[in-house]
Amino acid sequence: MSAPRPVTGVRSLGAQHGPDREGERAPAPGAKPPEAAPLVERVTHHDVPEICALYKRVWDTPPAPGTPAELLKSWQPTPLEFTSWMEGVTYFAARRGGRLVGVIGCEVDHGSCRLVNLAVDAEARRQGIATALVAAGVEWGRHANAAEVWAEALARFTAVAELFKHLEFTECGFLRRHDWGEDVRLFERLL
Ligand SMILES: CC(C)(COP(=O)(O)OP(=O)(O)OC[C@H]1O[C@@H](n2cnc3c(N)ncnc32)[C@H](O)[C@@H]1OP(=O)(O)O)[C@@H](O)C(=O)NCCC(=O)NCCS
Repeated sequence: MSAPRPVTGVRSLGAQHGPDREGERAPAPGAKPPEAAPLVERVTHHDVPEICALYKRVWDTPPAPGTPAELLKSWQPTPLEFTSWMEGVTYFAARRGGRLVGVIGCEVDHGSCRLVNLAVDAEARRQGIATALVAAGVEWGRHANAAEVWAEALARFTAVAELFKHLEFTECGFLRRHDWGEDVRLFERLL
C-alpha cells in the first residue's frame, strides 16, 4: 500500500464553508472565529479502531426514525470487517484537533467514482467536515480519471441529500425498496 498523503485542495474547499467565505463581511470584534478547515488524509490500518468507534457512535443514533436495524448494524463494522471494506475502496478521514470526526470511502470502478459510507460525528456537524471529505472524494475521482462521482442516499435521510445538492451534485435517480426495503436517492456530479 502506498504511503498516506494529505489531500491537496481539501483545505481550501473546507475553508469556503461557514462565515469566512470570500466576499462576506469580516466577523465583528469578539465574534467566534470560523472553524479551521479539517485535515483530510488517506486512512491507514492505524486508523481502523477510531473509524469503527466513529461509525458506532454515528449509527447508534440514526439520523431518521424507522431506519431498519439491519442497515444500522451493517454500517457498524468491527475492525476486521472494516479492514475488508478497505479492499478496493480508498477511505479518507477528517481530523480536527487530532480527533477523527469524519470518514468517506471512494470506490473507482468502470471509470466512475462512488462515494460510500460517509459519516460525520454528531458533535462536528455543520462545520464543513463532509464538504471537505466529499472534496477529497472528488479529487480522488479526478486523480483516477473517473468521468463522474456518484453516491446513494437513503430517502429518509434528508441531511445527506441537502449536502449533495449544496455541493452541486444532481439528483439523477431513485431506487425503490433497494436497501433492506428502503428507498434510495442517487446523486451524481460529472467531472
Ligand atoms: C450528512 C452528513 C454527512 C453531513 O455532514 P456535515 O459535516 O454536517 O456537512 P457540512 O457541514 O459539510 O454541510 C455542508 C452543507 O450541506 C448542507 N447540510 C448539511 N447537513 C444538513 C442538514 N442537517 N440540514 C440541511 N442542510 C444540511 C448545508 O447546505 C450545509 O451548509 P451550511 O452548514 O453552510 O448550511 C452528517 O449529517 C452525517 O454524518 N449524518 C449521519 C450519517 C449519514 O446520514 N450519512 C450518509 C449516509 S447515506
